[in-house]
Amino acid sequence: MEYADEGNDEYLFEAARDAAERSFGKEVYLRGLVEFTNYCKNDCYYCGIRRGNANAERYRLTEDEILFCCDVGWNIGFRTFVLQGGEDPFFTDDRICQIVRKIKETRPSCAVTLSIGEKSLESFQRFYEAGADRYLLRHETANEWHYGKLHPASMSMENRKKCLHDLKKIGFQVGCGFMAGSPFQTIDHLYDDIVFMRELEPHMIGIGPFIAHRDTPFKDEPDGSVNLTLKLLAILRLLFPKALIPATTALGTIDALGREKGILAGANVLMPNLSPPHVRRKYLLYDGKICTGEEAAECNMCLRRRVERIGYHVADSRGDHPDFVNERNEHDVESGI
Ligand code: 5AD
Ligand code: FES
Repeated sequence: MEYADEGNDEYLFEAARDAAERSFGKEVYLRGLVEFTNYCKNDCYYCGIRRGNANAERYRLTEDEILFCCDVGWNIGFRTFVLQGGEDPFFTDDRICQIVRKIKETRPSCAVTLSIGEKSLESFQRFYEAGADRYLLRHETANEWHYGKLHPASMSMENRKKCLHDLKKIGFQVGCGFMAGSPFQTIDHLYDDIVFMRELEPHMIGIGPFIAHRDTPFKDEPDGSVNLTLKLLAILRLLFPKALIPATTALGTIDALGREKGILAGANVLMPNLSPPHVRRKYLLYDGKICTGEEAAECNMCLRRRVERIGYHVADSRGDHPDFVNERNEHDVESGI
């Protein structure tokens, strides 16, 4: 899907980066991403770790390995840890809660973000009580018909939206989002996405290009474009001036300077990988993923350099949504941690 009007694009990106600067100055937030399991009970047609992909080499990190990743991240200055995984029944609510508690126990001033799929209201509540601060659950598309083209019948858009509303009700900072240029996506679907987001008012918005994975039903579908992704980032920045919006690894995969371009189109978050090197090559949602051979420290330095090169700098704070003050981070501010 392309709507070429290059002259206007730069104007749009400039307006979006001005909006980001008004809310955040020239700060970019880093989130350390721990991809702790690639087992998944779902079978989304676009995703490389779908249950039906027999070629995926499955792994799970142990609790100690996850905590070790957070130690490494903490020591290089990360104050947010994102635990991301497939929907893996091995990681029961008890196990997730215990991991969250342990991360927070020794690093009370950090933020923990979960990105582990659809759960019940009760489960979300337990995660929150264990200390999780934020939750990422991309809605993938807000259009019912399109949702059905991307997912098997066992999954429903209705439940996904319910989860997002439940998360907000509980008090999480909530992230939704979708892939730019996913198969069957039309401009009308993007309109539906925007209407849905205006209603949800997410604190975080994850947008990256769709990239085909060779072992999925969408292996022959064209990748989403850099330009469409950037335009969507910019439009969403203008609509949600205070949102936390990452320039994603997927954007860095389809364009060597994609993440820089994302920041210059209004994004203000980067999510360097903290996963241990021996599993990085296995957490492949799409083909060609960058940073699968690097160590945490390398990605950290690389990203800091990239941010500085375009005139921005990496923030030291944990980077909550500007409107979002709950008892936990209010306490952090008061005690100056
Ligand atoms: N290309 C790009 N993004 C993908 N995701 C899953 N598969 C792909 C793919 N092939 C995204 C989904 C998911 C997030 C974790 O990664 O939007 O929510
Ligand atoms: Fe990993 Fe650049 S971000 S090497």
